[in-house]
Amino acid sequence: MRQPLIAGNWKMNGTRESIKALLDGIKAGIGDVKVAEVAVCPPFVYLADVQEQLSGTPIAWGAQNLSTELKGAFTGEVSAPMLNDFACKYVIVGHSERRTLFGEDDATVATKFAVARDNGLKPILCVGETLEEREQGVTEKVVARQIQAVIDKVGVAALADGVIAYEPVWAIGTGKTATPEQAQAVHAFIRGMIAEQDAGVAEALRIQYGGSMNAGNAAELLAQPDIDGGLIGGASLKADDFLTICRAAG
Ligand code: PGA
Repeated sequence: MRQPLIAGNWKMNGTRESIKALLDGIKAGIGDVKVAEVAVCPPFVYLADVQEQLSGTPIAWGAQNLSTELKGAFTGEVSAPMLNDFACKYVIVGHSERRTLFGEDDATVATKFAVARDNGLKPILCVGETLEEREQGVTEKVVARQIQAVIDKVGVAALADGVIAYEPVWAIGTGKTATPEQAQAVHAFIRGMIAEQDAGVAEALRIQYGGSMNAGNAAELLAQPDIDGGLIGGASLKADDFLTICRAAG
């Protein structure tokens, strides 16, 4: 039985004050979340605050990105050992905003996955097609390529140390969600392609859905057999909405 993971991707949002209020709200309601594992991914600069506020709670935390390098002259970068200094459990790699706005290609994302894992962090590997790619009918080809790049780098067994988030780019931040059937179809494809390489890994691997998941649509998405949680952007910034999604996972 795969435990669903609901992770909030706060992106570049929040202030010290708003984050404290958000975490107070989540902490107040987390007792009702019986099944899902819950995590939040704040901007780097708030990791220390988040660590302080979440230590001793069941809520995990992680970062939104990491460097391919471990240390040195890489201005503006943040390394895996630095994330370990703040007890991060997870780190998002290959989010579509990193791929499209910051030029991260499959090879870079695969290296980030490897570096995260080598340093004891659990990578949340984001994959997904653009609207154009969906319309061209190449969704499966695109997600297979994105995942295979990681498998080629680290081996299929290593996937088990992370999580995959299927996030159709056209659904991210747009209010347009994949239907449960559309999402389930891609999730089943992903599990199937991994099963061809290692059935045990495929069975155990958590595959989250991401892209405009909210308090209203979470339950039917999370009810799909191959959807094992969600990576939540906008709706993770409101404690009540986020908690509703967390409760919908079980
Ligand atoms: P969204 O973002 O929920 O705001 O669509 C999801 C994500 O980008 O991870």
